[in-house]
Amino acid sequence: WWEHVSPAPKDPITGVTEAFLADTNPNKINLGVGAYRDDQGKPVVLQCVRNAEAKIAACEFLESNAAAVGSKLVEESAKLAYGTQAHVVKEGRVAGLQALSGTGACRLFAELQRRFYPGSPIYLPDPTWSNHHNIWRDAQVPERSFRYYNPITKGLDFAALMDDVKTAPDGSFFLFHPCAHNPTGVDPTEEQWREISYQFKVKNHFPFFDMAYQGFATGDLDMDAQAIRIFLEDGHLIGCAQSFAKNMGLYGHRVGCLSVLCADEKQAVAVKSQLQQIARSMYSNPPVHGILLVSTILNDPQTKALWVKEVKVMANRIQLMRATLRERLEDLGSPLDWENITNQVGMFCFSGLTPDQVDRLVREFHIYMTRDGRISIAGVTTSNVSYLASAIHEVTKY
Ligand code: LMR
Repeated sequence: WWEHVSPAPKDPITGVTEAFLADTNPNKINLGVGAYRDDQGKPVVLQCVRNAEAKIAACEFLESNAAAVGSKLVEESAKLAYGTQAHVVKEGRVAGLQALSGTGACRLFAELQRRFYPGSPIYLPDPTWSNHHNIWRDAQVPERSFRYYNPITKGLDFAALMDDVKTAPDGSFFLFHPCAHNPTGVDPTEEQWREISYQFKVKNHFPFFDMAYQGFATGDLDMDAQAIRIFLEDGHLIGCAQSFAKNMGLYGHRVGCLSVLCADEKQAVAVKSQLQQIARSMYSNPPVHGILLVSTILNDPQTKALWVKEVKVMANRIQLMRATLRERLEDLGSPLDWENITNQVGMFCFSGLTPDQVDRLVREFHIYMTRDGRISIAGVTTSNVSYLASAIHEVTKY
């Protein structure tokens, strides 16, 4: 039956973790996967999550409440994305569904897109999170790319991006990372978002935002949703995937939300019912414990305030490590310009290291990252940053 099946290629991100785990060198560093670690290199369970766990354990939760908890999660997630006072939420124009983290939310949207706009492609930024390609491919949505990153400036290629937005056929679907772009750490400025939004009106494009890192770009949840708020203000109907994996440290719980803004409540009811049908055939219902955790945190003002503080702490540690890594490289007399380490934002730095240099880092220094040179700054600590800087200097100095 399966003779014709050959092994699938390794995933460029999870494959790095596998190689790291197999390495027995004590100095090894994992800068592959975008998962937050503290300054001791340890995964973190946020205090707000511990508090929520205690609250949940103390009250009787009936399985039959799952739907109500899911609706609460959607409502609170929508406020995080669109703002607490957003009229779209009050008017019942958000078709929202709890999803299996950001990946699940993207997949639900991709399925919705294929179902109601068959043949219409998704425009993905070049580069983008590698899994976006898998998700839309498996949903059988054709893929196009739009220019985003300029390797020379290690910043945004805004002119090229606008050019591609203008030349795409009217009414195209575009995916954006509203903050902390993965893998480049390069985001448009407020002014640039306004121009993009304006052009989207002209072209009647549909913006889909994948917001996996809300809070990690600036340390402020509202600031990080600025792009979405700009599009909202301009009256766009938009889609948004949200993940609580990173900003609540709930990696294994798979909690997320997909929301699709509609013109009126009737449309929202219809779209939501379609999303429910799509989810039903794929996994029926999402696991409920993570949803309970997130909705407990978002619904309790004290626990929410604690969460907001803890997000800041994570974002600040990453910013400090960016500054330290750049400083160490400069102290070593590196002939290269490392400004991009501190100019880029969020969990990742698109270092500019070539695949060969990355391979040398693995072979000679046991430092692991994706071959596109993306460094997960979350894996950098006070104790490994000097070792990392010397290794990077060593492979880039000639
Ligand atoms: C990453 O880009 O490293 C994260 O989004 C984790 C993942 O699953 O790819």
